[in-house]
Amino acid sequence: MTLPCLPPTESAATCMCGCGEPHWGWGPHAPSSLLLLSLLCTAPLGLLGGETRQVSLEVISGWPGLPQSLLHIRAVGPNSTLHYVWSSLGPPAVVLVATDTPHSVLNVNWSRLLSPKPDGGLRVLPEDSVQFSSALIFTRLLEFDGTNMLDVAAEPLGKPYPPYSLAEFSWNNITDSLDPASLSATFQGHPVNDPSGAFANGSLAFKVQAFSSSGRPAQPPRLLHTADACQLEVALVGASPRGNHSLFGLEVVTVGQRPDCPSRREQHSIDDEYAPAVFQVDQLLWGPLPSGFLQWRPVAFSQKQRSRESALPCQASPLRPSLEYSLPQSPIVQAFFRSQSNFCSFNLTFGAPTGPGYWDQHYLSWSMLLGMGSLPVDALSPLILGIVAVALGAPGLLLLGGGLVLLLRHKQHSEYQSIN
Ligand SMILES: *[C@@H]1O[C@H](CO)[C@@H](O)[C@H](O)[C@H]1NC(C)=O
Ligand SMILES: *[C@@H]1O[C@H](CO)[C@@H](O)[C@H](O)[C@H]1NC(C)=O
Ligand SMILES: *[C@@H]1O[C@H](CO)[C@@H](O)[C@H](O)[C@H]1NC(C)=O
Ligand SMILES: *[C@@H]1O[C@H](CO)[C@@H](O)[C@H](O)[C@H]1NC(C)=O
Ligand SMILES: *[C@@H]1O[C@H](CO)[C@@H](O)[C@H](O)[C@H]1NC(C)=O
Ligand SMILES: *[C@@H]1O[C@H](CO)[C@@H](O)[C@H](O)[C@H]1NC(C)=O
Repeated sequence: MTLPCLPPTESAATCMCGCGEPHWGWGPHAPSSLLLLSLLCTAPLGLLGGETRQVSLEVISGWPGLPQSLLHIRAVGPNSTLHYVWSSLGPPAVVLVATDTPHSVLNVNWSRLLSPKPDGGLRVLPEDSVQFSSALIFTRLLEFDGTNMLDVAAEPLGKPYPPYSLAEFSWNNITDSLDPASLSATFQGHPVNDPSGAFANGSLAFKVQAFSSSGRPAQPPRLLHTADACQLEVALVGASPRGNHSLFGLEVVTVGQRPDCPSRREQHSIDDEYAPAVFQVDQLLWGPLPSGFLQWRPVAFSQKQRSRESALPCQASPLRPSLEYSLPQSPIVQAFFRSQSNFCSFNLTFGAPTGPGYWDQHYLSWSMLLGMGSLPVDALSPLILGIVAVALGAPGLLLLGGGLVLLLRHKQHSEYQSIN
């Protein structure tokens, strides 16, 4: 049985979605008004993300002998370039820049970037090609005592332990983890000062992966991505927790040029084929689309083997404005935005006091997508479409069958009459 679908042409869909939305020419123009269409047709929308980009990963080193380096992901499309600059100078951070030319380049002045006043040490040239910019900073690893539930209203995860400041971590040499084949690299770190030896056998890792076309990773939560987005996978492995039932979290700071904080949206679906038992996608938008976005499913995993059994809930606190001086300094953010930026922060927490947890295997992983342009829109999976088709189709078949019976009867009747 086939479902009614419009022809799967990219131009038709692009034209339909282009209406009414600002058009910067640097993203696939995924539909927002095409919800109905997306419910009916998976394949054509799948093709929407068919836009590919020429993606390169480059490690930019400071002077020889200095440990500092930047990871520059450059994704070039026909009329645009997206730049993602990741760094572990200070706390781990990424600067996102979209330009409307395929020729924009990153310019780093190391002596300025490493100076006490890094303003202007990181630029994307030509400066007037920049259409959008924002940044994220991962400031602290949080830990809560999940057993001490005296005041559930005030501290739903238990008493907080002193957080680990990610600005005071030492990170690996990013060049060693660079994998051009999978377009990925990993920042792996542990606290510089670790008197209790909690990280003696452990580490916190930020694995960054870029994509040259749209698709879906093999591992849950299998978020749909386009070539405009990067995936970040955060993994805490092998660190000794401070309590028997420790819950962990991550403090995240958003940086933008608008005065208000990015807005948070939850999208619900009846479809959980790609992430069992998770029917929600959380989104953070820097402004009206197309813009910068974060997207994640509210699920983390307590085992390398990601399954329903190892799934943990992931909660995000509301965003609230933060003062720059109260945050650890991120040289790349200061270098790019100078002082024209606003900071907001929120906490992600993983797990609940009961159920599976970090304590099982000293393992925790969580992933999200960050990108620029239009949001990848998850259409219903083929399995769910099949179920819908069968559900809709069964009464249809009955009607059709009933009609045939009536027709045949009528025919028999008329034959009978004609014989008479
Ligand atoms: C990082 O590793 C690369 C290749 O293994 C090496 O060339 C480079 O010197 C290293 N950088 C530092 C700061 O050790
Ligand atoms: C790129 O820009 C050119 C000239 O402005 C235009 O003709 C072309 O359709 C654009 N391509 C895409 C993929 O947007
Ligand atoms: C880099 O910055 C320093 C200090 O601000 C400045 O003196 C130097 O000219 C800059 N280098 C380049 C290549 O722009
Ligand atoms: C780290 O691993 C070693 C060897 O496996 C073990 O002897 C040691 O107790 C571990 N330390 C911590 C803090 O878990
Ligand atoms: C952890 O559990 C052990 C054994 O069940 C207990 O002796 C210890 O006091 C607990 N530690 C904490 C911090 O609750
Ligand atoms: C995040 O959690 C920490 C530790 O509980 C707390 O100090 C901080 O205020 C929280 N931040 C936000 C934005 O809720």
